[in-house]
Amino acid sequence: MSNNPTQKKEWHDVDTAQKALVDTSLKSLFDEDSKRFETHSISFEGILFDYSKHLIDHTALRALIKLAEACDVEGWRAKLLTGEKINTTEDRAVLHTALRDPKDRGIVVDGEEVYPFVEKTLRQMQAFDKDIASGAWRGFTGKKIQTIVNIGIGGSHLGPNLVVDALTPYKRPSIQTHFVANIDGADLNSVLEQIDPETTLFLVASKTFTTQETMENARAARAWMIEKLGSENCVTRHFVALSTNEEAVKAFGIDPDHMFAFKDWVGGRYSLWSAIGLSIVLSIGFDNFKKLLDGAHAADKHFRTAELGDNIPVLMALLGIWYRNFWKAGSHAVLPYAENLNLLPLYLQQLDMESNGKRVDREGEAVTYDTAPVIFGQPGTNGQHAFYQMLHQGTDIVPCDFIGIIRPDHTLKKHHQLLLNNLVAQSQALMLGRTLKEANNNPHRVFPGGRPSSTFLLNKLDPYTLGILLAFYEHKIFVQGVIWNINSYDQFGVELGKELAQKLEKGENTELDGSSQGLLDRIKKQSSS
Ligand code: F6P
Repeated sequence: MSNNPTQKKEWHDVDTAQKALVDTSLKSLFDEDSKRFETHSISFEGILFDYSKHLIDHTALRALIKLAEACDVEGWRAKLLTGEKINTTEDRAVLHTALRDPKDRGIVVDGEEVYPFVEKTLRQMQAFDKDIASGAWRGFTGKKIQTIVNIGIGGSHLGPNLVVDALTPYKRPSIQTHFVANIDGADLNSVLEQIDPETTLFLVASKTFTTQETMENARAARAWMIEKLGSENCVTRHFVALSTNEEAVKAFGIDPDHMFAFKDWVGGRYSLWSAIGLSIVLSIGFDNFKKLLDGAHAADKHFRTAELGDNIPVLMALLGIWYRNFWKAGSHAVLPYAENLNLLPLYLQQLDMESNGKRVDREGEAVTYDTAPVIFGQPGTNGQHAFYQMLHQGTDIVPCDFIGIIRPDHTLKKHHQLLLNNLVAQSQALMLGRTLKEANNNPHRVFPGGRPSSTFLLNKLDPYTLGILLAFYEHKIFVQGVIWNINSYDQFGVELGKELAQKLEKGENTELDGSSQGLLDRIKKQSSS
């Protein structure tokens, strides 16, 4: 039987349900059902997930759940959680969930038990955190570490940077944290200008330890450190590695004892829970990192055990499929009304678009349906003064995720009230719109309304709750990948550009098109003038 979801009867049932709703207003769904908020929202620990402002009725929801069943979401979920090699193109298991599982579930990958390995790295991270905090670990000249710089890109950067920023109130005052990702030297330079080599520790974060940007930045940082401290021997006190590639770590000159390891069954964009999270540990302390893992584990348990219709990440995924495939929505906005979640849209951009931005299915056949939407966003209320115009009056439907925090970590109560009022007002405006009559017959002031959104209300932005939220998004993406019958865990699409850049670096650029040659000529001419 074909794995193409559009060939399934259940897909057609969803299509029929969509057609039946085309002329229904979102507002009327509330008018008809006074309990819609209660029946279309789920509380899980410190999070309320409200999905009542969606263009969906009981029939459509049932049809979507049937589609999930027909695509065997439950079977794939079991494969994911038990370490089956579902990343078939790379022959790898996908086990980020095992990184936050406090109990031994007896998973074995390639003949090695997963849990003891996870536990060993966690203990190593905990001990290191203690040594840095107490000053047992000193720099080359005998001073305590006061600054850490994470050098990494993509999954080795975005997750840790997001979490460290999000948990700013939990940060240790004794440690300054910086992140360097870009191959643009301005990134590294701006950090080097601010830091003291004697009290700085570089964390070279790279799953492969071959990524061009990270290795170039790490080499430059090492040269800077040696120049400042006057001896090659300083490297061992000022550089540690977070990686799967011990050989490359050694070749770089980092003592394998100062390497924090993880395995290839952790995907880069799913790796903040692994050794890649060391910058989180050193910034907010191991105990808080553990709470982050515990929150994610609670979300894993919910994902594993809740009925599909009560399962938050499953509902997130199905609503995404509903708009992407049945309403032709090409993008999805992530709108955290929390300054400390500034990086959430960027983080989710990689998580979602690198996972599900695929054009062939698991069997290698071109898909006949749309996959990942464009993920974008920025914190409210800033975004309101930038791109919300298009959300309200543009020609596309853009489903939105609003994220609000009920109890802030500051005392500016009025600010917070205004912030949350804006959150509610925006989702309300998107839903209700404004008719021509209400707009005094001025078509420019008409809002079509009926624009859907989910709202997540977090009691507090603490490590545990953040862990839940991030794991929900991971599982959402997994479920969508299952329904689309794609492998969410490879990323071959990033390779061609890397290969061509390497060719240019090596001067193997003989077959250039006119534009690329013209650009290079211009760069060469202007840089030497
Ligand atoms: O270029 C994409 C990518 O492979 C991501 O998937 C990954 O998170 C990032 O590069 C960094 O890779 P690494 O951790 O191996 O340096």
